[in-house]
Amino acid sequence: MKTVNFGLIGAGAIAWSAASAINKHAKAKVLAISDPNAERAREVAAGNNIPTVYAAAEELLADGDIDAVYIATPNKFHAPLARQALSAGKHVILEKPFAMNYAEAKQVTDLAAKKGLTFTVGMNQRFNADSQRVRALAAKNFFGEIYHAKAYWLRRAGIPRLGTWFGNKTLAGAGSLYDIGVHMLDLCLYVIDNFEPVSVSGQTYTKFGNRGLGEGGWGHSERANIKFDVDDFASAFIRCKNGATVTLDTSWARHQADDNRDNVELYGTEAGATVRPAKIYRYGKNPLSKYEVFDLNNTPLTLPHQCRFHNFINALLGKEKLVVTVAQALTVQKILDGIAKSSATGREVRL
Ligand SMILES: NC(=O)c1ccc[n+]([C@@H]2O[C@H](COP(=O)([O-])OP(=O)(O)OC[C@H]3O[C@@H](n4cnc5c(N)ncnc54)[C@H](O)[C@@H]3O)[C@@H](O)[C@H]2O)c1
Repeated sequence: MKTVNFGLIGAGAIAWSAASAINKHAKAKVLAISDPNAERAREVAAGNNIPTVYAAAEELLADGDIDAVYIATPNKFHAPLARQALSAGKHVILEKPFAMNYAEAKQVTDLAAKKGLTFTVGMNQRFNADSQRVRALAAKNFFGEIYHAKAYWLRRAGIPRLGTWFGNKTLAGAGSLYDIGVHMLDLCLYVIDNFEPVSVSGQTYTKFGNRGLGEGGWGHSERANIKFDVDDFASAFIRCKNGATVTLDTSWARHQADDNRDNVELYGTEAGATVRPAKIYRYGKNPLSKYEVFDLNNTPLTLPHQCRFHNFINALLGKEKLVVTVAQALTVQKILDGIAKSSATGREVRL
């Protein structure tokens, strides 16, 4: 493949930055977009030089000029559309969360393998400069044994517009957990390079959105008074095979001093770190008693870009390895399933 022609399925809030990022790659171009809301699709097309608008995903997938698709729709449609796209012979970059559950996700990855097509989930937080820098140090064993990590993305009022699909279990699968928690969970496991969870205990809560509180405003889908019945706070404790542990806390709405708080903190025997911003904490070597805190602003990046789309395109062109592997994406989905099950049963879940 010399260039990659894209189709976008879904013309919501995130489609704008996706189209722009893809079109910035010298060897890629967005050729078409589809959305049941034709006006929204036309707006994204007009704003991003996308020549063709299709009314339905099926029409876009039948376009023989399209090599790859980006799927950014309500979560319920992620896995079914990914399967449809793979069946039509397209490579797929799918928005997070991967699927409504592990079984659905596995069907997608099995089909991609059978068809010999490239599939990834676009976990954009992994590509940020700070993420790349801390991950590079972890890969060199800089931190010693990483025995614990804390992942959190906590918003005071960050529910995407109330009354839309985002707050509905049938359409979204979960709330803050699938919207922002999944980012920090994925980023944390990636940075500490530990995708071997053995058990999870978690609890989800619905305390604000169901009272009409905590709206943040994200999303372009129309308000339709859709019932809010997902988590607006979730907390989990994950044990890994090597004894390391991870905590995850995420909220769309809760009482806190600031609007937003998000980070991954890792605890190693030789050093600790935060990822946002990338900072290192350790004993100084000389004299031993002096404690060092330093940032990583001047350390080189491991990738020539900070973009999930450019990684996917470069992988299709044979120039880079995919950063988000199928196995890792499945593991994250397995943990999310575990949190839901643990919350429903009040027990720790073996994975
Ligand atoms: N990676 C990130 O940082 C990030 C950020 C925002 C959203 N997202 C993800 O992107 C997806 C879309 O989010 P959004 O904020 O754009 O939502 P949105 O509500 O703004 O837009 C969703 C769009 O999907 C369309 N749609 C509904 N059913 C469809 C179907 N069957 N086929 C095609 N289009 C369909 C709707 O008409 C709407 O235009 C979600 O899964 C969300 O989790 C990811």
